[in-house]
Amino acid sequence: MKLHALITQFFPENPTRNLKWKHQSRSKNCSNQLWFVLLFSIVMFFILLCFNQLLFENSKGFVSFPGKSTGSATYFPGKLKSSSKDSCLGRYVYVHDLPKRFNEDVIKDCQLITRPTDRFSMCKSLENSGFGPRIRGLNGSELWKNGWFSTNQFMLEVIFHNRMKKYECLTNDSTVASAVFVPYYAGLDLRRYLWRFGVSMRDSSGIDLVDWLTRKPEWKRNLGKDHFFISGRIARDFRRKSNRKSEWGSNFRLLPGSENMTMLTIESGSSKNDIAVPYPTYFHPSSNFQVHQWQEFLRKQNRPYLFSFAGARRSKQKGSIRAEIINQCQASNKLCNFLDCASSINKCDDPATLMNMFRSSVFCLQPPGDSLTRRSTFDSILSGCIPVFFHPGSAYTQYVWHLPKDHNKYSVFISGKDLRVGKIGIKQKLVQFSKEEKQTMREEVIKLIPGILYGDPRSRLDTIDDAFDLAIKGILKRIEILTKRN
Ligand SMILES: *[C@@H]1O[C@H](CO)[C@@H](O)[C@H](O)[C@H]1NC(C)=O
Ligand SMILES: *[C@@H]1O[C@H](CO)[C@@H](O)[C@H](O)[C@H]1NC(C)=O
Ligand SMILES: *[C@@H]1O[C@H](CO)[C@@H](O)[C@H](O)[C@H]1NC(C)=O
Repeated sequence: MKLHALITQFFPENPTRNLKWKHQSRSKNCSNQLWFVLLFSIVMFFILLCFNQLLFENSKGFVSFPGKSTGSATYFPGKLKSSSKDSCLGRYVYVHDLPKRFNEDVIKDCQLITRPTDRFSMCKSLENSGFGPRIRGLNGSELWKNGWFSTNQFMLEVIFHNRMKKYECLTNDSTVASAVFVPYYAGLDLRRYLWRFGVSMRDSSGIDLVDWLTRKPEWKRNLGKDHFFISGRIARDFRRKSNRKSEWGSNFRLLPGSENMTMLTIESGSSKNDIAVPYPTYFHPSSNFQVHQWQEFLRKQNRPYLFSFAGARRSKQKGSIRAEIINQCQASNKLCNFLDCASSINKCDDPATLMNMFRSSVFCLQPPGDSLTRRSTFDSILSGCIPVFFHPGSAYTQYVWHLPKDHNKYSVFISGKDLRVGKIGIKQKLVQFSKEEKQTMREEVIKLIPGILYGDPRSRLDTIDDAFDLAIKGILKRIEILTKRN
């Protein structure tokens, strides 16, 4: 190392040899001089050591952290050893080797996780690391040839797990790990038993998992606070309060062991240990170039529609604003494009139809549906279509690691309440934006694209942080605070 070369250059004898030599010496004068040289060299050595470490921390220890909305823009990993330049320090993740019944076996019999309403069987959705079948022959451009898949949103657990297997800082030594990943397919497991089965079937694998985890030495270190897992279902699905069969979901997140872990989920709820991450979209690029090419393509799009909406009415749902939204869309004199998912279910699941619709629109309406969030939000961002929200829980309070805090920059908010009582109209609100304002917002949306997509694990997006990378940065920072390690 440079430092050692420097020291030997100035002090050919190293300090220990000087010391030895001093004992052999009989000259007092010489001895005093030597003491001085020795002291000086020790002081210099420590100054240089400190200096070296400072430089090292600045170049390697701090990683820029986009998308995180807390004041500090830097991330500082936990344990730093001065002797090593290991860029994985503070980023090591240990992945639990779970019994297969918690993941592999869940997807092995893919018919069991397939619902009659699914467009493809889940067996198809499992292809290509969980991205689903490749989309070929999408109209328009060469661009569509690479990286596009018919992705089912519930596959996020498999997609994330496959990315995790390729994470650059995996470790088999759990004592150096900053976080512990639990590759449990929570949502897919529940999907097998959500409809026809009683509560004990829905709850059993969660109870088994917690029992398995809490016996492990990895658990005892932080009582699970450094553990995390991912769910392709919304958080509410795991918070069934009673044991009535008619009540929805499982009780997994109410189990004492489960509560201590962080759950990454497509939609968080009231628990502070549930953190929302983007729904998977149709685009899983394998190179930076594919991302940039797509962004360029979107910038040049002709967008004949001011706004569009793909969805269905929710007539059974009390207080749903969807009927109002659809009425306003249909009354807008061709400014709005409506794709009715109640009458053309297949089109609403067809990536080509949806992407072509969204990339022809300036704004895309994203009202709550069965729950507050929608996968469509991320499909619209992916199309450079500015999302319009009607509830803060549809995005602003959810994706704090992936979407900017200043939501006026990339989206429009129309209060659902005001819309319902006729205080504001959608068209009336959206026509107010100038051409420049729309362009500036769209550019913000297009810049968000890399951070909301899940790249192909079979290759790497070398300089781009995708949704997975941002989630890992977020989780490491969160766990560092939770466990107060240093
Ligand atoms: C492809 O798109 C163009 C316009 O963008 C349209 O005229 C043409 O009919 C489309 N072809 C197919 C096969 O959808
Ligand atoms: C962990 O151990 C497994 C099995 O021995 C091995 O295949 C894998 O490469 C190891 N991973 C790392 C990150 O050392
Ligand atoms: C969860 O964490 C709390 C402390 O916050 C601890 O008292 C409790 O024992 C933990 N639960 C389990 C199952 O480890």
